[in-house]
Amino acid sequence: MSAQANLPDFTLSPEEVPIVVTEVLPSERVSALKSEIATALKDRGATLIAHYYVDGDVQDLAEETGGCVADSLEMARFGRDHTAGTLVVAGVRFMGETAKILSPDKRVIMPTLEAQCSLDLGCPPDAFEAFCQANPDRTVVVYANTSARVKALSDWVVTSSVALPIVESLAARDEKILWAPDKHLGHYIQTCTGADMLLWSGACVVHEEFKAKALFDMKALYPDAGVLVHPESPAAVIDIADSVGSTSHILQAASQLPQQTFIVATDRGLFHKLRQRNPGKRFIEAPTAGDGATCRSCAHCPWMAMNELSRLAACLRDTAVMTANEIHVDPTIAERAMVPLTRMLEFQSAAAN
Ligand code: 13P
Ligand code: SF4
Repeated sequence: MSAQANLPDFTLSPEEVPIVVTEVLPSERVSALKSEIATALKDRGATLIAHYYVDGDVQDLAEETGGCVADSLEMARFGRDHTAGTLVVAGVRFMGETAKILSPDKRVIMPTLEAQCSLDLGCPPDAFEAFCQANPDRTVVVYANTSARVKALSDWVVTSSVALPIVESLAARDEKILWAPDKHLGHYIQTCTGADMLLWSGACVVHEEFKAKALFDMKALYPDAGVLVHPESPAAVIDIADSVGSTSHILQAASQLPQQTFIVATDRGLFHKLRQRNPGKRFIEAPTAGDGATCRSCAHCPWMAMNELSRLAACLRDTAVMTANEIHVDPTIAERAMVPLTRMLEFQSAAAN
């Protein structure tokens, strides 16, 4: 059974989503910035941890300098286990906070602290605390795309890579779940597991834009194409998918499935790695809007787009900018949030062994 909580809609309005225009740099400028950043990372004893949705040059640089490009789960694990004293996180705010919570003694820097997430913004801690207090009999499971304060109120943190097996294990113990903030991911997990879940009403402004009718029409144009969908998408889009899962799951499915063409419903930043790993295959963006509609993100997260090479360079070049871009989490909140985050990482490592 799943229930929609009696809550206001926490989906962001178009006015709350920033318009981000990124500059296309000439290749000499890209090379110069990359080499400046690589030197600065070395000089500052720092490692670069990037999400699959950020600029392709930033992804390449992370790998070339011994850092990582990963989904949100692996970013958290990599940062916790790395020996560098400074972690530079290219992604969105909750990813930087997660790194800091798991590594309180490391310095965590981001190219910009303005890189938010609509799910995090759509789950204000005070309202969420009241929701938890009104449902004390439920196990609180929150998506990693939340603030440190929301994580601190939870029993479990999950990412889209591990949400399914974790909720399955809770349902097997007859635990009733309070889920936040993504209603689409929550609905998908509930459908797969049959768990009793009370859902918060947030959404990702990028994935919510994918449209089932337009995707269906596109599939008719490419009848041999496979459809890969991130589970933050609406249920009607998920229903058309050949494979559903996190960014790392989509990458794996694209390599393993026999199709040579794929329609992909997730942020277009992932196409960089999809094309690098599958040079012979063709990847097409899933449609984001019907006729006459305006789109808010055009399948690219405006906050992920803020992680430009030039910003990253500026942050490492100037100690004052670096200090201003450092992530701080209240130690009491961090200590409490570390518990459900560690639970998630331990669950994942036990499942992998
Ligand atoms: P992943 O955990 O799949 O990397 O997703 C994070 C995210 O923000 C997707 O929009
Ligand atoms: Fe948040 Fe969506 Fe951006 Fe991911 S793509 S960081 S869920 S707004």
